[in-house]
Amino acid sequence: MTKVTIPQLQKMKDRGEKIAVLTAYDCAFARIFDRAGIDILLVGDSLGMVIQGHPNTLPVTLEQMAYHGRAVARGAARAHVTVDLPFGSYQVSPQQAVESAIRLVAEGGAESVKLEGGAPFAATVEAIVRASVPVMGHLGLTPQSIHKLGGHVVQGRGPEAARQLREDALALEAAGCYAIVLEAIPQGLAAEITASLRIPTIGIGAGAGCDGQVLVSYDLLGMDASFEPRFVRRYAELAEVVGEAAAQYLDDVKTSRFPAEANAYSDLPSPVRLAASGGEGLATK
Ligand code: KIV
Repeated sequence: MTKVTIPQLQKMKDRGEKIAVLTAYDCAFARIFDRAGIDILLVGDSLGMVIQGHPNTLPVTLEQMAYHGRAVARGAARAHVTVDLPFGSYQVSPQQAVESAIRLVAEGGAESVKLEGGAPFAATVEAIVRASVPVMGHLGLTPQSIHKLGGHVVQGRGPEAARQLREDALALEAAGCYAIVLEAIPQGLAAEITASLRIPTIGIGAGAGCDGQVLVSYDLLGMDASFEPRFVRRYAELAEVVGEAAAQYLDDVKTSRFPAEANAYSDLPSPVRLAASGGEGLATK
């Protein structure tokens, strides 16, 4: 299985083929998404919210990103793996950013890193790319800036905000980003930015005019039934499926229907069972 490379992602934009991106946080989901053909697995700092239960992404650390990155990389035979630089790991200086990016590659399974911010981060992007680490940019609603933005709110509305975003996108491309996430901006503006750039844009809440789309996998899978923002399409109701499975298990344990004879081991080794497991270890069936 050959990996999706950055030149391949560029070719996808050039020939008008859409790029499919999903967040992943562990090996089990990464393997499923990879086998489904997802092009990029983003180890997003959204894990602070969907995995750790924080109200925002700000408490996530570099060590935690590296831990989840390693797990995802083990499940990604084909998909490109990009890992978020978390809050506080790159804003201090370009040197700090290079050191953090190198750690995510060396210890966190990252094939590229993502950071949030526009023109003020151009020098940072240049420094990381100079260290041979590809960078994905992230503009619009940048969750690490929620306190400055006043919450998770749509960005780029109005001529001045739109002009700023257009300039930021061009600055990130010139600095060497290989792709840019556009989050929660008007679809017309996203399409305009996409047309103005050579590199691919990956939209989330930015309409169909982007070169690719990204969703938080837990949103797409319906892991939190109460979370229903406009930009998400739910493809499964896992909260329901998992809840029903747990309730069924609970009932079976309480009523002694689990474990059954078939789930238990007898006193004497069974030749048939041991053969099924290769003659050693625990027989499965
Ligand atoms: O952290 C994340 O999951 C992200 C996506 C929402 C783009 O940055």
